[in-house]
Amino acid sequence: MKNYLSITDLGPLAKGVAEALKLKENPTRFQGLGKNKTLGLLFFNNSLRTRLSTQKAALNLGMNVMVMNFGNEGWALEFTDGTVMDQGTSEHIKEAAQVISQYCDMVAIRAFASLKHKEKDEAEKVLNGFMRHASIPVINMESSIRHPLQALADAITLAEARKTSRPKVVLSWAPHPKALPHAVANSFVEMMKLQDAEFLVTHPEGYELNKRIVGDVRVEYDQQKALENADFVYVKNWSSYNSYGAVLTQDPNWMITREKLGSAQFMHCLPVRRNVVVEDAVLDSEQSLVIAQANNRTYAAQLVLKKILESI
Ligand code: CP
Repeated sequence: MKNYLSITDLGPLAKGVAEALKLKENPTRFQGLGKNKTLGLLFFNNSLRTRLSTQKAALNLGMNVMVMNFGNEGWALEFTDGTVMDQGTSEHIKEAAQVISQYCDMVAIRAFASLKHKEKDEAEKVLNGFMRHASIPVINMESSIRHPLQALADAITLAEARKTSRPKVVLSWAPHPKALPHAVANSFVEMMKLQDAEFLVTHPEGYELNKRIVGDVRVEYDQQKALENADFVYVKNWSSYNSYGAVLTQDPNWMITREKLGSAQFMHCLPVRRNVVVEDAVLDSEQSLVIAQANNRTYAAQLVLKKILESI
């Protein structure tokens, strides 16, 4: 594997999940693979899990890691060709990507959607800028459109926790005070399309995800109906896609409660706002998989790094 931009870059998902579970059994087995190789982690946005789990994964493989927070430490980057750089940007992606390619053997990038301009966000200028100008493999640590490391960790968690061969999995929108991106929901949908499962999405009208990603996945606007007999309930807020970035409702009736969850297992990528997205009684119950999901971020990242190391 040369780059990891989307869950589909991994090849057959079930095979990838099985390999990640093997890595989890003995995380330091391939310590020699990353010797004298350096991973650069570039953050244009905040992180807890992605930063630490990807570092941990690299250390498990014997790699060196360098982290840079572009938001407050790096020069402001310019992404447009031919610009007269007499405004706020100090360094062009052309130089930055080539320089980083000399210091690192692969680079992982987090750059969220602005939620202001759909077309600009979908152009993925940061990720694609590095794809264009870097000479090393590129890993997506959450871009405007996708969060494929989270989706892979979720696939590993589903494989560990499933009690039936074809579970019912529901992706439910939940309220949130801020406008949030679509990347986690998009990648979860893309991952679930590769699973043998009964999968549906539930959200209030106006919160339809990108049709090109959802395709023919069933959408049920009645949350109660969607949650009936669910085995897994994956909860996430996202802002409107059609009224791009808008918060159309914060209806608290969409919060996940113990009563709504029934006997299903609860999933969320974290961080989560307690008693807004989901009530304490769910997060603090044995039905919550959120800590297991965060743990599996390490093995998701480790699988991706291992596959790239094997290809360079
Ligand atoms: N789930 C996730 O990506 O967490 P962080 O934003 O803390 O990295």
